[in-house]
Amino acid sequence: MSNRTFTMIKPDAVGNGHIGGILAQINEAGFRIVAMKMLRLSTEKAGEFYAVHKERPFYGELVEFMSSGHIVAAILEKDNAVEEFRKLIGATNPANAEEGTIRKRYAESIGRNAVHGSDSDENAAIEGNFFFSGLEKF
Ligand code: RTP
Ligand code: MG
Repeated sequence: MSNRTFTMIKPDAVGNGHIGGILAQINEAGFRIVAMKMLRLSTEKAGEFYAVHKERPFYGELVEFMSSGHIVAAILEKDNAVEEFRKLIGATNPANAEEGTIRKRYAESIGRNAVHGSDSDENAAIEGNFFFSGLEKF
């Protein structure tokens, strides 16, 4: 069990003005922000980030969506961070997400689902290092 996870506020939520609401919910749930930045991914970089899904039917759509606007990337800290954060964001498809979760509140659809959360400690470290250098983490 590690104490860090990685998240992105996705282009749908950024475009709909939900950065503040989502960050407030993350803070209220007891996560500390270790690193944070807003940027727009190129299609190349989005493709690289989601390379594990390359063979999935939704890959092209996912890469196009994730490079369609700005995202907020962040590293978060809390005990059992990966599991706790996935509980906070809710199911991939907002139709199946529990009441009060970030995706239930803010996501539009399975594709435009407001936030990303790492699925393992190993991926949390890989994904955090994809966006942030050592100098940018505190
Ligand atoms: P994420 O990686 O973004 O936190 O989401 P997740 O673990 O809950 O879901 P994952 O299986 O890793 O899928 C990555 C993202 O791909 C999009 N997706 N679209 N159209 C579809 O059927 C479909 N399935 C997945 C979602 O945006 C999902 O978050
Ligand atoms: Mg995932």
